[in-house]
Amino acid sequence: SEENNLRPQHLEDYIGQEKVKQNLKIYLEAAKRRGEPMDHILLYGPPGLGKTTLAGIIANEMGVQIRITSGPAIEKPGDLAALLTNLQEGDVLFIDEIHRLSRQVEEVLYPALEDYALDIMIGKGPSAQSIRINLPRFTLVGATTRAGQITGPLRDRFGVLLKLELYSPDELSRIIIRSAGILDQPITPEGAYELAKCSRGTPRVANRFLKRVRDFATVLGDGVIDREVALLSLKRMDVDTLGLDELDRSLLRAIIEMYNGGPVGLETLAAALGEEAVTLEDLCEPYLMQMGFLTRTPRGRCATRLAYEHLGLKAPESGSAED
Ligand code: ADE
Repeated sequence: SEENNLRPQHLEDYIGQEKVKQNLKIYLEAAKRRGEPMDHILLYGPPGLGKTTLAGIIANEMGVQIRITSGPAIEKPGDLAALLTNLQEGDVLFIDEIHRLSRQVEEVLYPALEDYALDIMIGKGPSAQSIRINLPRFTLVGATTRAGQITGPLRDRFGVLLKLELYSPDELSRIIIRSAGILDQPITPEGAYELAKCSRGTPRVANRFLKRVRDFATVLGDGVIDREVALLSLKRMDVDTLGLDELDRSLLRAIIEMYNGGPVGLETLAAALGEEAVTLEDLCEPYLMQMGFLTRTPRGRCATRLAYEHLGLKAPESGSAED
């Protein structure tokens, strides 16, 4: 797919996440020099930041194959056993949304991670026996948007925990320019920067905007994405100047108009908006907090003075709107 074409294959082509990259480079190099598989890695952070991309890079840098699956796709212990027994020595198994593995499946995963072994029960009742099957040594790369929902025993079996952060507009700008090059799409630095500022700190959003703005540039402009085409396209797509979408704005408006600026509990807010709490937590809140529009307090969510200003609403003189 085109999304795959835009994915960097090597660590040196991966833009941003400098701390993650620096350390990962050392771990990969050390494992290679020792001729060992890379230790198991847990990637966590908001969606769309490049966790799958990074897993692909890890496999590529180690010179092994990657198998990609997800927590909900592994329904039974037998599904996991089938995946594990089909791996080659050193392969990467990538499990996205790993916090959604069932308890039963997790139990099978523990000995696989610790001893590269599967313990299979044969028979039932008093005559039941357990036999052990050795597996090829492999690297599990797990990804989750919610590190807090991973069980302790599973978390403890990862040797490397890497937290991905939202990207800065400068980093997103570089990603957009790189992607435009791959798509053979002319773009000016100013055009790229306007898209970057609206991309919610997220490469997936940046690359999606790039493709749509390319459509506007092709049909309405002269084919080049400059500042003017970028701004016009974003406006036509109802993206505001800071990249907030309709759900982000409804969330802030609900806190302000229904709960006087907060604090209000996440579940209450989700019910008021007809959304699930996890949707708001994963999709809206990281960016709203990065922008300084939302704070989380022990008593619930609050809209900041900046949020009132951005929405063109008058902030109360004192009290509920926190700074
Ligand atoms: N595409 C998606 N994420 C990327 C990143 N971090 N660097 C370069 N290209 C990307």
